[in-house]
Parts: sequence; C-alpha cells; structure tokens
Amino acid sequence: MITEKAPGKLYIAGEYAVVENGYPAILVALDQFVTCTIKDSAREIGQIISQQYTNDQLNWRRMGDRLVVDKRDNPFSYILSAIRITEEYARSFERDLRIYDMQIDSQLDSANGRKYGLGSSAAVTVATIKALCHYYHLPVTKDEIFKLAAIAHFEVQGNGSLGDVAASVYGGWISYHSFDRQWLAQQRKYLDLKSLIDLPWPDLKIESLTAPQNLELLIGWTGKPASTSQLVDKISLFKARQQDEYHRFLEDSKACIQRMVEGFHQQDLDKIKQEIRFNRHLLKQLGANSGVNIETPVLNRLCQIAEHFGGAAKTSGAGGGDCGIVAIDRNADFRAVLKSWTKEKIEQLPLSVHFIDDVKYTVREHLPLI
Ligand code: PMV
Ligand code: MG
Repeated sequence: MITEKAPGKLYIAGEYAVVENGYPAILVALDQFVTCTIKDSAREIGQIISQQYTNDQLNWRRMGDRLVVDKRDNPFSYILSAIRITEEYARSFERDLRIYDMQIDSQLDSANGRKYGLGSSAAVTVATIKALCHYYHLPVTKDEIFKLAAIAHFEVQGNGSLGDVAASVYGGWISYHSFDRQWLAQQRKYLDLKSLIDLPWPDLKIESLTAPQNLELLIGWTGKPASTSQLVDKISLFKARQQDEYHRFLEDSKACIQRMVEGFHQQDLDKIKQEIRFNRHLLKQLGANSGVNIETPVLNRLCQIAEHFGGAAKTSGAGGGDCGIVAIDRNADFRAVLKSWTKEKIEQLPLSVHFIDDVKYTVREHLPLI
C-alpha cells in the first residue's frame, strides 16, 4: 500500500495578474492535506473512493441549446486527469499498467461541507500524481511532479495560473511566474509526454522564499465559498473590454511582487507589509473597474480589523469569499485581531506553513530504470 500527501495553499499576492504568462505571484503551502492511498486491486475493476467527495450533484450551465457540465468544480475530473497523465508517463518508462484501488482523503473539503478555498483541486492532482509515481516506481523530482500536475490540472481547468499546483509541490513560501500555457497546449499535440517534461518551459520560474523570523501569518475565513474559475472568467471579460486598464494593472502588480520578493530577500517585514497593502489596493481597483466583487464586505472588515492592530491585510486568491491573509509582527498583539474577528464571525484558520523535502522515489532493484 502506498500513501502520498500534498498540501493546500494560499495566495499571498499577485492574484489575477499571475494568470497571464510570465507574471508573478507569491504563495504559501499550508499544513492541511489531500492524501492519496493506492493498493493493488484483487479484482478486474479498480475503485476510486473518497469520503469527502460523495456529493453526487452535477453542475451544468446552458450554452445556447446545449447543456454543458462544468467539470472544473468536480474533484473526480482532476483525479482522472492526474491518473491519465501519470500513466502516460509510466508507459514512457515501459511500466506495465495495473489495476488498483485508490482512496482520496481530503482535509481541504471537510465532511460538513465547509470549503476553505485552500486549493483542493491542485492538492488532489498533486497527491494523486505523487502516489502513482511512487506506485509505478517512477524516479521524479519536484520539477517533474510540477510539470505532470500542471498538465493534468490545466487539461481540466483551462484558465488557471497553476500557482496553486506549484505551492502544493514545492511547499513553504514561493514566488511563481506562470508559464506559457498556449505553448504547452501546442506542444502537447506534437511532443511525447517525456520529451515535454524534459524541456524547459517558457516563462516558468519558481523560487523558494524565506520569510523573515518576525513574520506571523494570520488567516481569516469568511465562511463563504467562492468559485475561482467563475471569477477568473469574469475578469477575462474585463480584459477584452478595457485592455489599457487591464495592462496597467498587470504592470503594477508585477512591480509590486518584484518589490515584495526583494523584501523577502532582505528579510524586511515592513517592506513586505507595504507591498501587501499596495497589492490589496490594486486588487480593489481591479474589482471596482471590472465590477467583480473581489473584496466583499466581510473581507473588507477582515482587513480593516487587521490593519487597526498593525497588520497588513488583503484578500487571498480570487476573493469573493474564502480567506483573507494578514502579515503581522510576531511580537505585536495579534490576539486582539483574532478577538475582533470572532465578534464579526470571521474565523481564524490556525494553520502553519508546510515545508516539503526533495522527493525522488527510489527505484526498486528488480525494476530496472530504462
Ligand atoms: O481563490 P484561489 O485561492 O483559487 O486563487 C485564485 C488566484 C487567481 O490568480 C485569481 C487565479 C489563478 O489561477 O491564479
Ligand atoms: Mg478562492
């Protein structure tokens, strides 16, 4: 039996801009996991089971006369895509494909239906790929796991930056520049998977960051789930209609993230806080200009309270609900923030940053590497 896990994530800054090729964001991996367990099946059929994904509803929308199922919010779409890609990779190492039972356990989608927006689709993709690489004894590095998971996730969601996949693979604090996904889609048609994984990908850049000792990260949950893919769709409309403003937003966001990364390099909490505030301002402006409700009234209260006690706060991810983040000095009275949040029914998620060691599954001797 093989078990592998992958952590959830939160965006710290750079959201929406990071959806465009080469634009950066900062993310952090958190100690809430999706776990994937695989064991050989004794029968001719395999099963994929999950206690959290028992919901048998299907979301669909109308496109003209067609009824279209939105598979982007269905976790099984990511699991199946991850299996397809990893097995394609396994075949390139001449592994014989097997029949197995797979169990998925997610702390990111709690049984009582509370969804925190910590990136469960990315984590379930990464956990499935890690477990299958282990199961088939495929020697993979973090870079290779990232590329496999990015392809699997992209082939389902289609409009994301894949920053959440990077956070789930690399762990800790990272800066992430999104790669050219049009290039990837093209190359998928012409190149075999192994060659594509071995190539450098245009614009892709992932750097691990070290947070200053005195940085305390607070996470507030609004209690309201938000759909990232639907919010990103709405911003795409703004991109088409107000191109100049959209491009100004992209450049401002990029410069802001570059200064924030410098703040990490210099271990300068004040600089990081200043740029979190500026990034919040940019996202609020984007929301106002596009008519997309990024900073909802609850998220606004969450930020106001944190600012009142000396923290730097903003929405995290696509906004519209989910979580807000706060960077605050470890020696400040951050308990006062939590107390005031409680009064406003904002729940603190007491999570820690999760770091991941380098992986390379050892290949068992009786299975020679090709
Ligand atoms: O709300 P989240 O945590 O899924 O983050 C979405 C971040 C966006 O930049 C808006 C989209 C993306 O794919 O990067
Ligand atoms: Mg979200």
